Amino acid sequence: MQNFDFRSPTYFAFGRDTEHRAGELCRRFGAKKVLLHYGQGSVIRSGLLDRVKQSLEAAGVDFVELGGVVPNPHLSLVYEGIEICRRESVDLILAVGAGSAIDSAKAIAVGAVNQEDIWQLITERKEITKALPVATVLTLPATGSEASSSTVITNTATKQKYGFGSELLRPVFSIMNPELTFTLPQYQTACGIMDMMSHLFERYFTPSTGVDLTDRMIEACLLSIIDNTKVVMQEPVNYDARANLMWAGTLAHNNIVGVGRVQDWSSHAMEHELSALYDVAHGAGLAVVFPAFMRYTMDHDIERYAQLASRVWQVEPQFKNLRQTALAGIEALEAFIRDELKLPLSFAELGAKAEDIPYLTERCRFGAQDKLGHFRPLSRADVAEIYKLAL
Ligand code: NZQ
Ligand code: ZN
Repeated sequence: MQNFDFRSPTYFAFGRDTEHRAGELCRRFGAKKVLLHYGQGSVIRSGLLDRVKQSLEAAGVDFVELGGVVPNPHLSLVYEGIEICRRESVDLILAVGAGSAIDSAKAIAVGAVNQEDIWQLITERKEITKALPVATVLTLPATGSEASSSTVITNTATKQKYGFGSELLRPVFSIMNPELTFTLPQYQTACGIMDMMSHLFERYFTPSTGVDLTDRMIEACLLSIIDNTKVVMQEPVNYDARANLMWAGTLAHNNIVGVGRVQDWSSHAMEHELSALYDVAHGAGLAVVFPAFMRYTMDHDIERYAQLASRVWQVEPQFKNLRQTALAGIEALEAFIRDELKLPLSFAELGAKAEDIPYLTERCRFGAQDKLGHFRPLSRADVAEIYKLAL
């Protein structure tokens, strides 16, 4: 196990009716003027935004609002939010919605109090020393942005979708009422589940040794997600299944299961190029990339793959042929994606094109020594092969 620092400072208010505490919590965290930031209307239609506003009014917290965040949130709206925060002396941004609204709020929080251009800060991965506090009322378990230190923003002019991280971006509080997820369409529920599973896989595939505790925590999260997926797909208003999925999404990405180990993240980098080019949902892109990544890298650490297959997918280990065990685990994941999540498994089903593979590969953000990821560092040729496996 590697040395690590870990701090997850977010205050969670979890459970039924917790959105009514938005005003009280804003006050507790020192807010006098809040920017309410949200997406394209689901929070208006559900009445959630009104309930949050009533709660702010009751607590005497002033607010302004900016809606209109789209999935794969756009830089252009971030600039609008920055302008509003500066003009209105906003001192906390409350995102009401899903990952895109939260990520947009985080980028606004950085841009509002830093002189440098927000896109320059993101592209150059500059270290920041200040940001406005961000808080969330979560409506879609998926990205883990309600507790994570990162934001992902799309510049539509350049077709670049880039992540940016800072400990200052971890929300000060997150309100998580599983009932708010009852209205999710089946497709969004599925994309969210694929995303949280991927956050666990990115951490599971590691070159680090001596990390048995976090291995088992990841496996436990995956087992619970798989069981509860089967319930919510049949019964979308099952409170306990929704609640377990919601908390799993947070645990998958606040890094409590990722400490002390080198993490991979190459599949996310490959997926971000798919959503930047085709504007597909992040979870759908991951459903296409992850099984291909697994098939390509399994021989690098067949025991780890066999362990996952046996402990999570209940594949009986073939001790004399661990490769067969490992492969059966990947096939079980593919069956889960196809039959339970009903998400695409190939470029063709996603609407991506084979002729774009050189472009997608070229655009991936390769790191040190021109490699992507850390489990089995990938060259450009490897990445192109993984995209081809996903055709
Ligand atoms: O815009 P509205 O009308 O609110 O509708 C949204 C949107 O259309 C809808 N929705 C959300 N909650 C709902 C609901 N519809 C009905 N009932 C509800 N309760 O769902 C749609 C998708 O929303 P979006 O915010 O785009 O989804 P998600 O939470 O999956 O966020 C995806 C974004 O997060 C990034 C992704 O790359 C993508 O840009 N990620 C952010 C991460 C982070 N900050 O740590 C990590 C992730 O790996 C990921 O990259
Ligand atoms: Zn993700």
